[in-house]
Amino acid sequence: MSEGAVKKEEKPRKFQAIRGTRDLLPPETALWSRVEQTAHEVFATFGYGEIRPPIFEATELFARGVGGDTDIVSKEMYTFVDRSEKLEPDPSIGSMNVFFQKVRELFKSGEIPTDEQDEAALKIAEDQWKKVDDLLEGGLKSESAGTEIYKLVLFYDALRLGTRVSLRPEATASVCRAYIEHNMQQLPQPVKLYYMGPMFRRERPQKGRYRQFYQIGAEILGGPDAPAIDAELIEMLMTFFDKCGLQGTELSINSIGHAADNCRRDYVAKLKAKLEKVKDKLGADSQRRIETNPLRVLDSKLEHEQPIIATLPRIADNLCDDCKTHYAAVKHELELRGVIYRENWRLVRGLDYYMRTTFEITAQGLGSQNAVCGGGRYDGLVELLGGPPTKGIGFAIGEDRLILSLQESGKAPVAQGRDVYIAWMGENARATAVRAAKTLRNA
Ligand code: HAM
Repeated sequence: MSEGAVKKEEKPRKFQAIRGTRDLLPPETALWSRVEQTAHEVFATFGYGEIRPPIFEATELFARGVGGDTDIVSKEMYTFVDRSEKLEPDPSIGSMNVFFQKVRELFKSGEIPTDEQDEAALKIAEDQWKKVDDLLEGGLKSESAGTEIYKLVLFYDALRLGTRVSLRPEATASVCRAYIEHNMQQLPQPVKLYYMGPMFRRERPQKGRYRQFYQIGAEILGGPDAPAIDAELIEMLMTFFDKCGLQGTELSINSIGHAADNCRRDYVAKLKAKLEKVKDKLGADSQRRIETNPLRVLDSKLEHEQPIIATLPRIADNLCDDCKTHYAAVKHELELRGVIYRENWRLVRGLDYYMRTTFEITAQGLGSQNAVCGGGRYDGLVELLGGPPTKGIGFAIGEDRLILSLQESGKAPVAQGRDVYIAWMGENARATAVRAAKTLRNA
């Protein structure tokens, strides 16, 4: 049988989009474009400029920015090692000694970032190589040769030979990184930026929840933390939703206090003490969160935890005077702008960087994943990422959910019709038809 014949008999593999990702197709993409165009227009009227940060960044940026204990960073990031270009792509067994020597040099010069764990991993891999090298000399006759080689492969795989990078799970940390990197604190403050594009989180896919999803977000960096800034940002958001025709929107707001004045720390201590007392009645997730992030217990949707949560201390009763005044002024500024809100003392958000104002917006037709937007103030974040003390506030809209809600309420466009159809009768007319199409398109 010829090689060609063998190939023909093999069943060609059918490729499908990876779980949690999907193709966006016409006519639906017309709705996506319309929504994005509306964002460009509305945000421009509020004085925002567009930023397009990269899709992947150093893992450390998200670990520090979003928080190492958050679900996003601890379980959901797509992380890989961007291997140093200076290393051979595939060290053959004969050149392992040279390879390890090279790795040591790159570790030493700092060209491959390292920590204690990496040093230890390198040592284990080198020791294992020595064992395998001895076995090779003996002609691999030992019974354990297979196991030892297998171990070498495992240890080699665990070696980090480059920078650890992650697909962005969100863009706030990237925008702050860019603000610092491009010295935007030198510009007139505050700097108002918006972005749109894909984000990546390894979550369990379901309606309105994807592993590659799209956000439209905005951030205000620098300047004062005047309550009017919080309110105007939210006003812009509601104006945008209104222009998109989004139905049944509900805005919830809260203030989660201020780390610097300790009102949040005192509250978290109080909350934790109370949670310890009812620990046995809570589910496994909440029990874990008592240690890692007690505020997140307030997020729980578990039915049997609701009566317990209702008895927990509330942050509003524990805010310091500054935070109380700020929160009251934000509410007043929202009223001034005719923005309707609901207060929700349990709105704490799942990312570590928030302080004071937090908010979320839900829309209709989305089932359990009904948050179409989330945001809040994050005054310490730029500093945490190595920049100067800088105020910050922003939001991100889940574009997939926004589109879904518009579709559910009948706002999706129907398939586009044609403006003109040209038919030619007979080959003689064809050239004229082609030219006519060109003329019409140009017009
Ligand atoms: P977030 O609440 O994690 O906040 O995400 C914002 C919105 O993105 C959510 O309300 C939801 O609509 C959408 N979203 C999140 N995960 C998924 C998913 N797996 N599938 C579909 N949609 C999803 C942030 O990302 C912050 N960076 C927002 C922010 C900006 N805060 C201040 N500035």
